[in-house]
Amino acid sequence: MYRDNWQELEQKLFLRTGTRVPVTLVRGKGALAWDDHNREYLDFVGGWAVNSLGHCPPVVVEALEKQAKTLIQASNQFYTIPQIELARLLVENSCLDRVYFCNSGAEANEGAVKLARRYGKLRLNGAYKVITTYSSFHGRTLAMTAATGQSKFQEPYIPLPDGFVNVDYNSVEAIKQATDEQTCGVILEPIQGEGGVNVPYDDYLGKIQSWCREKGILFILDEIQTGIGRTGTLFAYEQYNVEPDIMTLAKGLGSGVPIGALLAKEEFSLFSPGDHGSTFGGNPLVCAAAHAAVKYIIDNGIPARVRQVGEYFMTKLENLKQKFEFITQVRGRGLLIALEFDREIADEMVRACIDKGLLVNKVKPATIRFMPPLIITEKEVDKAISILQDVLAEKVRS
Ligand SMILES: Cc1ncc(COP(=O)(O)O)c(C=O)c1O
Repeated sequence: MYRDNWQELEQKLFLRTGTRVPVTLVRGKGALAWDDHNREYLDFVGGWAVNSLGHCPPVVVEALEKQAKTLIQASNQFYTIPQIELARLLVENSCLDRVYFCNSGAEANEGAVKLARRYGKLRLNGAYKVITTYSSFHGRTLAMTAATGQSKFQEPYIPLPDGFVNVDYNSVEAIKQATDEQTCGVILEPIQGEGGVNVPYDDYLGKIQSWCREKGILFILDEIQTGIGRTGTLFAYEQYNVEPDIMTLAKGLGSGVPIGALLAKEEFSLFSPGDHGSTFGGNPLVCAAAHAAVKYIIDNGIPARVRQVGEYFMTKLENLKQKFEFITQVRGRGLLIALEFDREIADEMVRACIDKGLLVNKVKPATIRFMPPLIITEKEVDKAISILQDVLAEKVRS
């Protein structure tokens, strides 16, 4: 009855939280997606940096099919093999020792803050405050809204949970000044994603890590957007020569299925049985899919490929910047890239790209963001660039 009226129906049925663009996606394959009128799009949004291996990657589909016929859900009062296999893969390929699985990024960060508070209680005389940065994004739960240093997300919900201090990003001094005897940790995104793809200066993370070590507080990295190959190494921390005490993952970890993870070094793995938990966390179905995705990414050297194609993409975007003076900056790492304009035309750009068959994301009023699948080819990048070029040229003429 409503077949052609999905968007109208959505307006009636949903709480008004986010805004959507007028495209109803019904299927996808690799970097391509199709809408309910069978229009084809090149998808450079990638489920918001989630579809690491593109839409419906065969390895993930196979793992899901196999696991769906074997065991879909079991409670965490039992051992289940897919989550143990995924934990082993993550531990063997990172600097962390122990894992806790959950269902989303916000939930992973909640776990990280709870673990930091356990550390504060047990080792720092009850210290409980966590320092985070402006323009960060850590999720939408109440505590993560307090952690997220963006007033537009915070204001509707004040008063927010206590214990979070937001300071300037990319400033070591700001973190030093905010640290006091009640501080138990610092949480940073190696590159801020939702804040506009903000890349810090090279030794920022190193200096913060040194400060945390000096003060005996936890150095926590939120790699929910940057992790699992997105920036050209399996984890972004590898590029900055640091090792987090705690790290959170979600998004690309499942290559399309909802999963989050909290990883910690042995000495900070201070939860005791009963301290934390989740019904669905570590669900066999999603863990089997995530294991297949991460194994494929590691075995096929996908992060190195991301570096290559990411540089190719950035060079092409820089060429566009030379041609169109209203592009002010191209920034990013690997396949997490933003294009900034000197005016607030991101909405307009997104719509114009849709009309020409390219899906991109507005991350700020004057900035669009690209998070294509990690398996994108140079040919697909060329196609996206050609569409962008047409859209920008039309903008000049208008
Ligand atoms: C860095 C970072 N942390 C946390 C989150 C929240 O993840 P989720 O939406 O899965 O709760 C996001 C989502 O965009 C993110 O980019």
